[in-house]
Amino acid sequence: MYINSLEFARVHDDADPLQHFRHCFHFPQHNDRDVVYFTGNSLGLQPKSVRSMIDQTLSDWATLGVEGHFHAQHPWWQYHTLFEEPLARIVGAKPHEVVAMNALTVNLHLLMMSFYHPTPTRNKVLCEAGAFPSDQYALETHLRLRGINPDEAIIEVAPRTGEHTLRTDDICAAIREAGQELALVMFSGVQYYTGQVFDMKAIAYAAHQVGAVVGFDLAHAVGNVPLALHDWNVDFAAWCSYKYLNSGPGGIAGAYIHEKHALNRSTPRFAGWWGNEESERFQMKKGFRAAEGAKSWQMSNAPILIMAAHKAALDIFDEAGMERLRTKSEHLTGFLEFIVKDSAKERIEIITPSNAAERGAQLSMFVHGGGRAVFDSLMANGVIVDWREPNVIRAAPAPLYNSYEDVWRFGEHLRNAL
Ligand SMILES: Cc1ncc(COP(=O)(O)O)c(C=O)c1O
Repeated sequence: MYINSLEFARVHDDADPLQHFRHCFHFPQHNDRDVVYFTGNSLGLQPKSVRSMIDQTLSDWATLGVEGHFHAQHPWWQYHTLFEEPLARIVGAKPHEVVAMNALTVNLHLLMMSFYHPTPTRNKVLCEAGAFPSDQYALETHLRLRGINPDEAIIEVAPRTGEHTLRTDDICAAIREAGQELALVMFSGVQYYTGQVFDMKAIAYAAHQVGAVVGFDLAHAVGNVPLALHDWNVDFAAWCSYKYLNSGPGGIAGAYIHEKHALNRSTPRFAGWWGNEESERFQMKKGFRAAEGAKSWQMSNAPILIMAAHKAALDIFDEAGMERLRTKSEHLTGFLEFIVKDSAKERIEIITPSNAAERGAQLSMFVHGGGRAVFDSLMANGVIVDWREPNVIRAAPAPLYNSYEDVWRFGEHLRNAL
């Protein structure tokens, strides 16, 4: 199906209906040509339209001052509503179930305030072993603050000996085993280290069977793999926008809250004026009255400058569409897998699942013997990947701007590096 040649790569680029989106992005340069940028799983490239969108915001601020809240090109007081439809499409939710706000770890804490209700008999939290450190720290400190000993309450599910990824059966069995003691399942949607896509539907079902709440960290899943949060009956989720959504370093994060909770005004939450019923927001009245939906979890007035970058990035993303992106992504990552195996079978072991349904854009590769030198050589030659201790290179061709030729060039550089 695949051939390791430049000609093959170019034929596929020419036939790629998303090819033109590459020109919407700034590529860092190496020796006067675009680098092979395979770290969109860490920080997506800058859309060229971000600058004019931010310029427009600056100009609204300069010319309108505070009046920008109502008269800016996109009035600031309801800027967040611009994201409801596109984010809902990306995560498979209803528009009133999503909101762009804060940063990812902040949102995880806020959502745990709403959805983790420990009692003396039901207070355990189940997550994957080796979760992203920020999630581990958030869980550990959140539980402590709520009077729960994290060493006793956190259950980590690890891969079987000799395996790198988790089996859905093992996750569900661990959920059943925790049973009535389990208050919350908090998993990532795509594991940051291995690139494994978890079966979120099965995990949500198993969690609900024992009466637990289920939430996902979608940092590596959003804009990468198809999501159907509402249909999967997921209770809550949070994500960042600087990876596959290309919204810039520290960009505005997102949250999803199932409508059964989001439309229930008595769902507990930390509130601020931006989450109050919009028609009454400027009446400065006593008594919080939640707006309808996930937007009522907003606390502060929105950071418009970074939201302008998000708007520019999501406009492009939405035009490409998740379905077309996923179709291309499966082919592109499949080509990368083929190229890696063809170029470096003896030295490199791919730990990401080979089944396309269980992975997104990222391949994580164990490099046997001198992995760091291989990584350094790739970087020195304009191939931007990342290194995770002890010996993993992660490479993620993003379907929105990477090409088949990028993948072929990666293979050439990898062979040289080895
Ligand atoms: C899985 C995961 N969780 C949490 C974070 C931390 O996100 P933030 O710094 O936006 O809170 C990251 C960042 O890359 C991540 O990949």
